[in-house]
Parts: sequence; C-alpha cells; structure tokens
Amino acid sequence: MPFLAVFTVKAVDFQSDIQAVLKEHCWDCHSNEKEAKGGLAFDDLEDLTKSQIHPVGLIRPGDPEKSDFLARLKLDEDDDDFMPKNGKALRAGDLAKIEQWIREGALMDAANPSEVEKGRMEEVKLANARSGGEVYFSWTNTQGKVIEAKYSGLEGEAVKITMKSGKSFSVPLSGLSAESVALAKKLGGK
Ligand code: HEC
Repeated sequence: MPFLAVFTVKAVDFQSDIQAVLKEHCWDCHSNEKEAKGGLAFDDLEDLTKSQIHPVGLIRPGDPEKSDFLARLKLDEDDDDFMPKNGKALRAGDLAKIEQWIREGALMDAANPSEVEKGRMEEVKLANARSGGEVYFSWTNTQGKVIEAKYSGLEGEAVKITMKSGKSFSVPLSGLSAESVALAKKLGGK
C-alpha cells in the first residue's frame, strides 16, 4: 500500500484531541447529556460522522476554509453566529488543532479509520501532494527498486519527482511499476 506508508505521524483525531475541547466549551448546548441545539450533539459520534462530516457538511474533511463549524468559532464574539454562543473564543491553540483536524480528514479515531475515512485520507493526501505539500510516496521502478519522493508534476510521458534532499528528476513512466504509473496518473488527474 504505497499511499498509507507515508502516514508516520498520527493524525489529529476527534476522540483524543478535539472532543475534550468541545466538552469544555460546548457541552451545555451540544450534547445528548444536556441539550442538542441546532441538532448538534458532540457526544453522539455516529450521528456527527453521518450527518455533519462530509463534503458539504458543517465539517468538510480536508477543507477547513469551507467548514462552517470552524468559521463560526472564528467570528467576533459579538457576531450573532459566533460559537460558543454567549461564551468566549476558543484558545488560538485549540482553534489551530481543530483546523488541523479538519485538514487531515476529520477522523474520529486515527488508529481505527473506517473505510470511508481511509478513502478520504487518500483524497486529502493526493490533494496535498498536488498542491506541492510535503507528501512523500514510495515509487517503484520496473526493477523493483523503491525511492521515497514527492510528486512534482506530470510532464507528458514522464513524472517529475523530488527527493527529500531537494533533488528533482524526471522519470519516464515506462520505467515505473504499474502501481507507480497508476499513482502518477492519479496525481496528474488522468
Ligand atoms: C449557550 C448555548 C451554546 C453553546 C455553549 C454553544 N452553542 Fe452552538 N449553537 C447554539 C444554538 C442555540 C444553535 C442553533 C442556532 C444557530 O445556528 O445559531 C447553535 C448552532 C451551532 C452550529 C450550527 C449548526 C447548524 O446546523 O448549522 C454550530 C456549528 C455550533 N453551534 C457549534 C458550536 C461549538 C463548536 C460550540 C463550542 C465551541 C458551541 N456551538 C457552543 C447554542 C450554543
């Protein structure tokens, strides 16, 4: 699985990193334990996952900028839509953590991603790689030799890759394994 091999650092996830923050600031109004205003209960992980975390949901995996959930936390405290309602803005560090959580795919439990989450993680990773992020893939040539390198573009029948050292080169697709060719084409949007 060349795609997943790159995830060496554990992603931020809801259960270990986010829920405690929401418990501190949102529980009175958004939990089944108390009240679920606006239909939002941050202790109902199944409903949260199904109803709110998807490409057009309040929480849009991989896309914090378009996620209303985060937008409302970043409003001025006196804005009508500001959350936590009648409360104080979250600490900058907590906002950053929520942003990172969404950017990394809004996982519930990073150690046990669901099939849907795995697919999303891969999409997020491909998108990051396409926009020049520090995403390294294992590329295999037809002889079975493997190198770790970033994707830097598809140029005709060759893929440009960049090693950690910063050295780039162009590898003809004909010299790569079928799996690496498929990866290059997927990254290139083909
Ligand atoms: C004092 C009560 C209160 C607290 C505390 C509170 N909320 Fe809310 N929240 C509401 C109410 C009422 C609504 C529904 C009306 C609205 O959308 O403004 C709502 C709506 C929302 C919505 C929009 C739901 C939708 O379907 O559009 C989001 C997102 C949200 N809250 C997030 C949060 C988060 C995150 C926190 C904690 C940081 C929080 N809220 C804390 C009362 C609260």
